[in-house]
Amino acid sequence: MQAKIRALLKERNAIMLAHNYQPPEIQDLADMCGDSLELSIRAGDTDAEVIVFCGVHFMAETASIISPDKTVLLPRLDAGCLMADMIDAESLAAKKASLPPMPVVIYVNSTAEVKALSTICCTSANVVKVVNSLPEQEMLLAPDRNLAMYAASKTDKKIHVWDGYCPTHEWLTVSDVEKAKADHPEAIFMAHPECRPGVLALADEVESTSGMLRYARQSTHEAFIVGTEIGMLHPIQKQNPDKIFYPASKKMICRNMKRIGLTDVAACLENMSGQVKVPEDIRIPALSAVKRMVDLSR
Ligand code: 13P
Ligand code: SF4
Repeated sequence: MQAKIRALLKERNAIMLAHNYQPPEIQDLADMCGDSLELSIRAGDTDAEVIVFCGVHFMAETASIISPDKTVLLPRLDAGCLMADMIDAESLAAKKASLPPMPVVIYVNSTAEVKALSTICCTSANVVKVVNSLPEQEMLLAPDRNLAMYAASKTDKKIHVWDGYCPTHEWLTVSDVEKAKADHPEAIFMAHPECRPGVLALADEVESTSGMLRYARQSTHEAFIVGTEIGMLHPIQKQNPDKIFYPASKKMICRNMKRIGLTDVAACLENMSGQVKVPEDIRIPALSAVKRMVDLSR
């Protein structure tokens, strides 16, 4: 199957991108693995004609927003994001109307329609930088309440919070972390900013998925508790064979990130199925929010 996919990628002039939570066999075959920000930037930089995006729907949409001339394939169109489902264009428009005029910082985990109504995108890797880049003192940050509260704790700006969250990260409780720390007192605790504030208060490092990879590589510590989706254990252990990584909780599984298998990748390349294309009237305003973030992050 791996040889078949490699041949199809070549035949179609395609690149395969995978998020850090994808199943090991998908990550191992991909041309590049990364966090949401790195994958967005790579999608914009590639010369390939086809992008096979192994992740969830909003990620493939972001690739299509940035690269409208490329064919973007999501091997399983049912791979969604439960947090992205917690906001839509109608509810965001209503919220904006209820507030005084202010910028909207939109987490990349959102649909293209929602991005189109927003000022600037952010990811978990750059949220504080994005918030501080705006001249305004007050803004709405949506849809992740935990990310918004984390950003608010790192800046003196006033941040209005949307009541969305990631169920996978919300499952991690303070008592799970206390237990993991008691079991592994020598370990550094790394947490993703989608975790609850009480969990982040216990973290030695708050990082995006690729931020965790970088931190573990550069750290002189040898043991780490990983506070994010358990798919992260594969790349982090692979890149650091001499270090030890413990999941903060084995319950942290995102079903949507586990939908894509090798047969789905082969099938989408064979049939050119699973195309994700954002209509131009949505893409143009959404691109403005995405581009503003990417320009800040380069
Ligand atoms: P990263 O951008 O840190 O990879 O996170 C994406 C995501 O969906 C986290 O749940
Ligand atoms: Fe969405 Fe959470 Fe899955 Fe990330 S882990 S894709 S935020 S549901």
